[in-house]
Amino acid sequence: MSTNFSCFLCLLLAIFSFTAAARTNAAPVAVKGAYWPSWFADTLPPSAIETSLFTHIYFAFLSPSNETYKFEVSGSTAALLSNFTMSLSLKRPRVKTLISIGGGGDGPDLYSRMASSSSTRKAFIDSSIALARKFGFDGLDLDWEFPQNPGQMEDFGLLLKEWRAAVNHEARAARRPPLLLTAAVYFAADFFLDEVHRAYPARQISENLDWINAMCYDYHGSWDTSATGAQAAFFDPNSNISSSYGLGSWIRAGVPRKKIIMGLPLYGRTWELKDPNINGIGAAAVGLGPGDEGVLLYHQVVAFNKQNGAEVVYDKTTVSTYSYLGKSWIGYDDVTSTTAKIKLAQSLRLGGYFFWALSYDNNWTISTQASKAWPYGR
Ligand SMILES: *[C@@H]1O[C@H](CO)[C@@H](O)[C@H](O)[C@H]1NC(C)=O
Ligand SMILES: *[C@@H]1O[C@H](CO)[C@@H](O)[C@H](O)[C@H]1NC(C)=O
Ligand SMILES: *[C@@H]1O[C@H](CO)[C@@H](O)[C@H](O)[C@H]1NC(C)=O
Ligand SMILES: *[C@@H]1O[C@H](CO)[C@@H](O)[C@H](O)[C@H]1NC(C)=O
Repeated sequence: MSTNFSCFLCLLLAIFSFTAAARTNAAPVAVKGAYWPSWFADTLPPSAIETSLFTHIYFAFLSPSNETYKFEVSGSTAALLSNFTMSLSLKRPRVKTLISIGGGGDGPDLYSRMASSSSTRKAFIDSSIALARKFGFDGLDLDWEFPQNPGQMEDFGLLLKEWRAAVNHEARAARRPPLLLTAAVYFAADFFLDEVHRAYPARQISENLDWINAMCYDYHGSWDTSATGAQAAFFDPNSNISSSYGLGSWIRAGVPRKKIIMGLPLYGRTWELKDPNINGIGAAAVGLGPGDEGVLLYHQVVAFNKQNGAEVVYDKTTVSTYSYLGKSWIGYDDVTSTTAKIKLAQSLRLGGYFFWALSYDNNWTISTQASKAWPYGR
């Protein structure tokens, strides 16, 4: 009797601990990422990040030395890195943290030189792993914008293969879970607006990265002032410059759908209309609209619309939003277009979404509705 009873308790305990373990170890159903621009640390300190809305936060950005390809971190950067991981480790729910290396501001040359020989790749890889561990990060992300030709794409593949081997080796030696390894990539796998033919090394990406962040934005902007555009159009009936095409190209290249994370912009791009009465997507324009270089952060778009009583239109064809007032025209994403895109990403069975960037939202309104649109436990 007593033996049977304790066995029963045993069983209950076993079931309980099994389900508890399964719950804590399970990967989140969706990756809900966001880049944190460190130059806005005063506007949005790490301690103010609403961690219930995200699963992964990227520290943007760090660069290796352009001569040794190692990370030579200054005192002030070291303080910022420790503050970032310390502040986030104190927050509940917990998020995972990654260091994002590179970014648009770095340009492509540093990374193409680094990736071009095994000794410089090794210097970069070993230094990046040591850096992530030293400051308590969970992973590393590479934002090389962009490999310029087929040879550089091949070097990118070699880098990923060697990086993964080093990450796994370090994890075994240190008896710790391996660092996450991710990359921010162009919106499409094999089609570039500069018309230089090249394709990402899809097999090396699939085998060696945990996932890719596809930058599904910047399709139109200050480089073409002749017409307005939906800078992050999900669909475009007239061209392949759309998230639908880009994400589809990654799937066709063979990257597992769960490893494709859709990028979402928390900023808009602006134009000056030629004629205030012709104000749709693709309307003739004569220059840039409000904002620095024709860019307004989402909270600035909201303020502009409110202050001036701009007309706001949701465009079903492209799954995007625009607003206009007189000759000012802004293409962006609001809650409606963002949540519609997230539903589309779910129907494609992708792994999740990420935002560029934290602190551009308007009091977390888009981030909150986005997180609700892709609940856990589906
Ligand atoms: C590295 O950057 C410094 C400072 O910008 C520059 O003077 C130097 O020429 C660069 N070195 C290489 C190898 O590009
Ligand atoms: C991070 O830095 C801020 C601002 O300097 C400071 O108030 C805060 O206490 C620091 N947090 C941690 C965990 O070090
Ligand atoms: C879009 O890409 C496909 C190949 O992926 C090509 O056949 C088609 O012509 C392209 N369409 C446009 C409008 O460029
Ligand atoms: C921000 O959102 C919170 C929660 O929805 C709300 O209580 C607060 O009033 C908002 N703050 C501003 C400045 O709009």
